[in-house]
Amino acid sequence: MTARIIDGNALSARVRGEIAERAAALSARGVQPCLAVILVGENPASAVYVRNKVAACEKAGIRSLRLDYPADVAPAVVMTKLAELNADPAVHGILVQLPLPPQFDEAAVLEAISVSKDVDGFHAENVGRLSQNQEAFLPCTPHGVMKMFEAEGVPLAGAEAVVIGRSNIVGKPMAMLLTNAGATVTVCHSKTRDLLFHTRRADILVAAIGKPRFVTGDMIKPGATVIDVGINRLQSGPDAGKLCGDVDFDSAREVAGLITPVPGGVGPMTITMLLENTVISAGRAASAAGK
Ligand code: GUN
Repeated sequence: MTARIIDGNALSARVRGEIAERAAALSARGVQPCLAVILVGENPASAVYVRNKVAACEKAGIRSLRLDYPADVAPAVVMTKLAELNADPAVHGILVQLPLPPQFDEAAVLEAISVSKDVDGFHAENVGRLSQNQEAFLPCTPHGVMKMFEAEGVPLAGAEAVVIGRSNIVGKPMAMLLTNAGATVTVCHSKTRDLLFHTRRADILVAAIGKPRFVTGDMIKPGATVIDVGINRLQSGPDAGKLCGDVDFDSAREVAGLITPVPGGVGPMTITMLLENTVISAGRAASAAGK
């Protein structure tokens, strides 16, 4: 079997078209959606992500406010800026790019973002609401994966889902979203004793480990849906310098039923969901202001 490829670029383009229409309608009501993006330091991957997020905003008619700080900035400076952005009615979404340098208490920074502007869905209150299956801003990467399942008609209720990776950004919220959708979910990680046992019985396998080409075809149940959240740059070998995911695409596609590529899979969906959350937040602000 050769898997069908889920085209994240095509799905993103479709959803971003709808988001741009909503942004234009809000602007016409006098409320242009606005996202503030904070980048601390010079992590090259973070710089690329932030550049892509800002560019995607502009294209969708969303105003972006980019704030760059040196790696050695005092946390109080960023906290003061967050308080200012929380109070600014023209700002609808606030994102602090992670990871932060070691002088920061990451959890404290995320808590300092207003829950109603937390378009990354990382604030403890939004995480708690997600865990209780209440309406919340959802973390963008797992939310984008759920959109892919919906667009492809992947059945979730009753499915065996295995998530490899237990990060706060992807693994844990992915597991919660799948649980809320009725899947039977197993979260695997570096301490998991028999990874193969779990992955081989997964109808849905989500790889979010950060290890290039870690998931190979022999680990996959025939016909499974395989979602690759990884973005790794190969350091050596014949493909040195190339981007690849956490899944060994060539061997996996011979076994899977549906698979996401890297690049062009989950990556564009992450940014799309960020834009959607920003427009949702702006829509709430417009309604609250009677516009
Ligand atoms: N670092 C890696 N992924 C993300 C993300 O989705 N949002 C933020 N803020 N930082 C990240």
